[in-house]
Amino acid sequence: MRIKAPSSTANLGPGFDIFGLALDAYYDEVEVSIIDHDIIIESYDNIPLDVKSNSAGLAATKLLNDFKISDGLKIKIKKGIPTGYGLGSSAASAAAVIRALDKLYELELTNEELVKYAAIGEQASAGSIHYDNVAASMLGGFVIVRSEPFRVVRIEPPEMRFCIAIPKIDVPNMKTQVARSVIPNDIPLKSMVSNLSNASMIVAGFSMKDIRLITESIRDVIIEPARARLIKGYEKVKKNALEAGALAVTISGAGPSLIAFLDGREEAVRRAMLDGFKEDGIDAHTILCNIDRKGTSII
Ligand code: HSE
Repeated sequence: MRIKAPSSTANLGPGFDIFGLALDAYYDEVEVSIIDHDIIIESYDNIPLDVKSNSAGLAATKLLNDFKISDGLKIKIKKGIPTGYGLGSSAASAAAVIRALDKLYELELTNEELVKYAAIGEQASAGSIHYDNVAASMLGGFVIVRSEPFRVVRIEPPEMRFCIAIPKIDVPNMKTQVARSVIPNDIPLKSMVSNLSNASMIVAGFSMKDIRLITESIRDVIIEPARARLIKGYEKVKKNALEAGALAVTISGAGPSLIAFLDGREEAVRRAMLDGFKEDGIDAHTILCNIDRKGTSII
């Protein structure tokens, strides 16, 4: 069973751990075959091959255990999504393997179950479970996740274009864990109200396919300011892109990539983002992309 899964951007500003959006920028491909015993991960890419340290391996192990499946698996992973840059790379591999197992063993899991199993893989790469990237990669489009009680809602988004700027820097191991450790524990009520109101407007914007409402609400006064310090070039890239005509700019997931929401002026925004990183001495590359609406799919 061969499955591909798209990259994704999580948070969209105020929707930390709640919002995900699937992007057609990159895809991972995962091939799963049944073997006699053990789970073996194969890949030519620079990812952990140890089952417990690999997002797909960890998610697959849990599913096999829960369903008392005694087969072994060979999981071949071809990474298309850059690892560690805030584009849902580990989530995509985990989403693909769970979709493959659902098909191979005819489990007919619900969307919630698919997302829950795939999210177990995030423990391997992020040190904790969050559902936003896996939900987007699994289902495509715009997703909202709530962990208690668990629920995933998918909304068919309007046509949107994005420019992602990916700095060419080495990312630390367990980068997401580092990026989560800087988030404040105590949040002033005013900040909570600001983020909650903007997040609510983003949901309304997607429901009404109102791109202006979505993008004017991409304002995060809690997590983004804390994480901005970790991303060299952040201030300049954001300022440049907005001045060049981007509708909104935010950190993609835990970063360090930045994502601009576009309304034309694509080349100007692209250059502005590159120049922003350059002003702080960082090389970067950009990719223009759209929303992926399919999520995981058989290839
Ligand atoms: N919501 C997660 C975070 C996404 O921001 O830490 C990680 O890609």
